[in-house]
Amino acid sequence: MKTVKFGIIGCGLMGKEFAGAVGRWSHLEEICAKPEIVAVCDTNPASLDWFLNRITTIKYKYTDYKELLANEEIDAIYCAVPHVLHQQIYVDIINSGKHFMGEKPFGMDMAQNEKIMEAINNHPDSVIRCASEFPFYPACQKLIQYIKEGKTGRILEVKAGFCHSSDMNPNKPINWKRVKEINGEYGCMGDLGLHAEHIPFRLGWVPENVCAKLSNYITERPDGKGGMAKCETWDNATLVCDTKDSLGNKFPITFEMKRMQPGATNDWYLEVYGMDMSLRFSTTDPNAFFFTEAMDNEQAWCRIVVGNKPQIKTATGAIFEFGFADAILQMWAAFLWEIEGRELDFGCVRPEETVLSHKLHTAALRSEKENIIAKL
Ligand SMILES: NC(=O)c1ccc[n+]([C@@H]2O[C@H](COP(=O)([O-])OP(=O)(O)OC[C@H]3O[C@@H](n4cnc5c(N)ncnc54)[C@H](O)[C@@H]3O)[C@@H](O)[C@H]2O)c1
Repeated sequence: MKTVKFGIIGCGLMGKEFAGAVGRWSHLEEICAKPEIVAVCDTNPASLDWFLNRITTIKYKYTDYKELLANEEIDAIYCAVPHVLHQQIYVDIINSGKHFMGEKPFGMDMAQNEKIMEAINNHPDSVIRCASEFPFYPACQKLIQYIKEGKTGRILEVKAGFCHSSDMNPNKPINWKRVKEINGEYGCMGDLGLHAEHIPFRLGWVPENVCAKLSNYITERPDGKGGMAKCETWDNATLVCDTKDSLGNKFPITFEMKRMQPGATNDWYLEVYGMDMSLRFSTTDPNAFFFTEAMDNEQAWCRIVVGNKPQIKTATGAIFEFGFADAILQMWAAFLWEIEGRELDFGCVRPEETVLSHKLHTAALRSEKENIIAKL
C-alpha cells in the first residue's frame, strides 16, 4: 500500500481532527493509499506539543511553514490556519508542487482567492481540494443519489444551511473568527458558507443573483484581557438566490449561514422540494434520510435510518450510527482516492467551486450594502 507523507500547517482544531482520521485509517476496508503525518508546523508551541505528545510518526516540527515546504520527503499538505493567512500560505504550498487540502474559504476574499487560483492553474498535476465533511454522511449521500436519479421531478425550491448557536452568549470572549482583519468581511459566510454550498454547486445549482440579509447582533465582546473589543463580522446571513436546473427551469435556492441560531449546535442541512418527491437531511438527526411519498393529493414525510453505509466502506457494522468523526474520515479517504486518480460518486470541494463561493459572498456583501438584488 502506498504511503502519502503529510505535513500539517496549522495544528489547531482542524489539524487535530485530521490526526484523528489518520489514527483510524485501518478502519477503511477499501484502502488505496495511507496518509502518514511526518511533519507539523505551528507558531504556537502548545499546538505543536499536542501533536508531538501523541503522533509517533512525526519526524519534523517547524515554526516557519516555508521550511516544512522545502522538505522533499513530504508529498502532501493539510493547511488549517486563520483566513487572513490563506493567500500567502496556500500560494506557497501550491508552488511547492505538493498535493494540498486547504480549508475554506480558500482565501479571505475574492482577491485572495484569485491569487490562489492563479497558482493552481500553474500546477495542473497537483490534486488540490478544500475541506467539507457533511456530504459524506451516508444519509446525505442517499439524498444526493435521489437527486441524481431525478426522483424529485421538477425542483420547486432548495434550502441549504449551516447554523450554530456558538455565539449566543454575548459574554463569550472574541476570537479571530470574529475579527474582520483576520476572518475577512464575509464574516459567517466565509466561516460557514462553503459547507452549505458544496452539494448545490456540485449539482450545478449555480446562483445567478442574490438578495442578502446580513446581521451583526453583537458588536462588542470581551477581549479576554479585562476590556471589550469591537466585533465587526456578520453573525448571520440569509441569501436568497435564483438558480436553474439542468433543463433550464428556474427555482429559488436559499443559503443560511448563522452563528446565532438558537438551539443549533452544528446544524448542517439540505432540503430539496420537488413536484414528485421532496428530500431532506440534517446533522441534527444524522442517520436519518427524509423523503415524501405522495398519497392522492397529500404528501407524507417518511424517515429511513440509514446507519453506517458510507461511500468508502469501513469495518464498522452497517447498523451502527455514523457521526462527524466518520464523515471526516470519509472526506480524507476521498481526498486520498482523488490523489490516486480513483473514481468517486461524490468528492471533495474543487477549487473552481471555491471561486463560485467567493462570487456569491462578494455579491451578498454588495446586496446588503446597496440594498439590491446583486448579480453574481
Ligand atoms: N472543515 C471544517 O469543518 C472546519 C471547522 C472549523 C474551522 N475550519 C477552517 O480551518 C481553518 C483553521 O481553523 P481552526 O478552527 O482550526 O483554527 P484554530 O485557531 O483552532 O487553529 C489555527 C492554527 O493555526 C496556527 N497558526 C497561525 N498562524 C500560523 C502560521 N503563520 N504558521 C503556522 N501555523 C499558524 C495557530 O497557532 C493555530 O494553532 C480556517 O480556515 C477555518 O475556516 C474548518
